[in-house]
Amino acid sequence: MARIIGGIGTTHVPSIGKAIADGKQNDPYWSPFFRGFDYVHKWLAVEKPDVAVVFSNDHGLNFFLDKLPTFAIGAANEYRNEDEGWGIPVSKSAAGDADLSWHLTNRLVDDGFDLTICQEMLVDHAVTIPMSLMWPGEGAWPVKIVPISINTVQHPLPSLARCLNLGRSVGRAIDAYDRDIKVLVVGTGGLSHQLDGERAGFINKKFDLLCMDELARNPDALTRYTIPQFVELAGAQGVEFLNWMAMRGALTGQVTQVHRNYHIPISNTAAATIVLENAGTAARHAA
Ligand code: DHB
Ligand code: FE
Repeated sequence: MARIIGGIGTTHVPSIGKAIADGKQNDPYWSPFFRGFDYVHKWLAVEKPDVAVVFSNDHGLNFFLDKLPTFAIGAANEYRNEDEGWGIPVSKSAAGDADLSWHLTNRLVDDGFDLTICQEMLVDHAVTIPMSLMWPGEGAWPVKIVPISINTVQHPLPSLARCLNLGRSVGRAIDAYDRDIKVLVVGTGGLSHQLDGERAGFINKKFDLLCMDELARNPDALTRYTIPQFVELAGAQGVEFLNWMAMRGALTGQVTQVHRNYHIPISNTAAATIVLENAGTAARHAA
């Protein structure tokens, strides 16, 4: 049976890609952020996931305002990146696990999540930057992915509760998957940031820390915030935290935070990394 090993939440700021291309990981500006991944690398080297289900938001590379699904899933065996205009190198492709994508899609639609099914899908920095952070270096990434896209751009956005429940549906579906694979769940973006308008540069450390605390121990508590309240507290792009909510929802077992890093700023963003371990149903039954 498939096993959910845990979840990782991480910022996806594009300029991280430029820092990687320029080898600036140890520069004083970048080091406090990149050092936050030392633990992640050690954890992944031990856990060795086969597949990563990645919740993220597209920023206009694949979907645009004219057609923007609330939830979309990739069902392909390869996902390419293209030039997004940020001045960062075009990324290598990610391998996909189309079989798992179709399994998840069947279960999710049964659960009332009407996903847009994408047999072709480009992935942008919201997928490629986290992949490069988790598995740095040359060569192919050592996991296949299933990308799930959540609309955090064009209002109305799905609520925090709905994204948590989307994740729960994904978690149940993975638990029921009859292949012997280890699955990592990833949520990208955030934390607080606003890129435009009068509040450009807005960051709210107190709220970010509260979100990370609650995410680990009681994510349902966060569903008390409406989307307008969340925008006010975290910034217009801080709603990318919806991807973290979905990631957390997919952790169906006993959840423990084993690592956290928080650093202000990376570009315009409060940069955060979290690793949540999931003692899954199989482990609990064995105990
Ligand atoms: C930045 C943050 C983002 O989440 C993004 O998608 C693009 C840019 C930034 O802080 O520069
Ligand atoms: Fe973003």
